[in-house]
Amino acid sequence: MRQTEIPLRRNFDGLNRQQLLIYARELGEHRQRERGLEHTISQREQQMRELAAASIAAQEEERQYIAFEVHDRIAQTLAAAFQQLQTLESMTQTDPKTRQVAVRASSLVREAIRESRNIMNDLHPPVLDEFGIAPLIEEELRSFQEQTHCQVRFDVDYPKRPPSDVEMALYRIFHEALINIRRHAPGARKVTVSLAYTGQAVSLQVQDDGPGFDVEEALQAKRVGGLMSMRRRADILGGQFEIISSLSQGTRVSVLVPVNGNNRKGGQGR
Ligand SMILES: Nc1ncnc2c1ncn2[C@@H]1O[C@H](COP(=O)(O)OP(=O)(O)OP(=O)(O)O)[C@@H](O)[C@H]1O
Ligand SMILES: [Mg+2]
Repeated sequence: MRQTEIPLRRNFDGLNRQQLLIYARELGEHRQRERGLEHTISQREQQMRELAAASIAAQEEERQYIAFEVHDRIAQTLAAAFQQLQTLESMTQTDPKTRQVAVRASSLVREAIRESRNIMNDLHPPVLDEFGIAPLIEEELRSFQEQTHCQVRFDVDYPKRPPSDVEMALYRIFHEALINIRRHAPGARKVTVSLAYTGQAVSLQVQDDGPGFDVEEALQAKRVGGLMSMRRRADILGGQFEIISSLSQGTRVSVLVPVNGNNRKGGQGR
């Protein structure tokens, strides 16, 4: 195979003024084309972020819509059925067999109400709109602790609330990180969550002392999944996202999202 050696530097000694001018013009044109390409690439990247932000906003809107539908069409009817069954129960005091059926039916309906509330909550937590992310995290950590008996700590410095899209993204990241701990680090004995809002940025950290994992390998193996989705949500808001994991120290998910409006890359404010 023939190899052509490209000289790193051109020897301009033997060139006349005319040829030098031609080279200079070519170089100028080349630089201009390069700048044009860089501009196009950064425009495309911006468009991609805006599309991703729009798709996430549409997804959240759809989830909210479904949550309201479940509430209005299913949960409300179940609540009415539950009341009727309670009345039936009190009317069957003297008939133990019928009463047993009524009690069983009302306990099933109560379970269905609980489940539909869980579904509504997963789709769009109403507490988030009204009270913000801090009480929601606290509540989820409380039930996580009750169910897993894992020691939980929540450090909060959150004097005011950032725009709703920032809170929603942080909540989804927290939620996914906690699900991952349940699923992949069931042996974790301690989970620490920190949430801080400095006025310039919101930071969230979720740390566990579970078995840890190889982050790069996991990202390569699963290009669509919880880790990618967390990273994407942070990126859309112009934030930084990092996962540090090791066998000895467990896993730490960190996200920092600016709230000064300068480096926001899409999404809606409150
Ligand atoms: N806290 C953690 N401790 C240990 N391993 C983890 C932790 N979080 C993630 N992992 C590892 O990283 C992998 C990828 O996580 P990711 O959230 O992307 O996917 P998943 O949880 O398996 O599925 P899903 O797409 O439903 O979230 C997991 O399969 C697991 O091996
Ligand atoms: Mg996951």
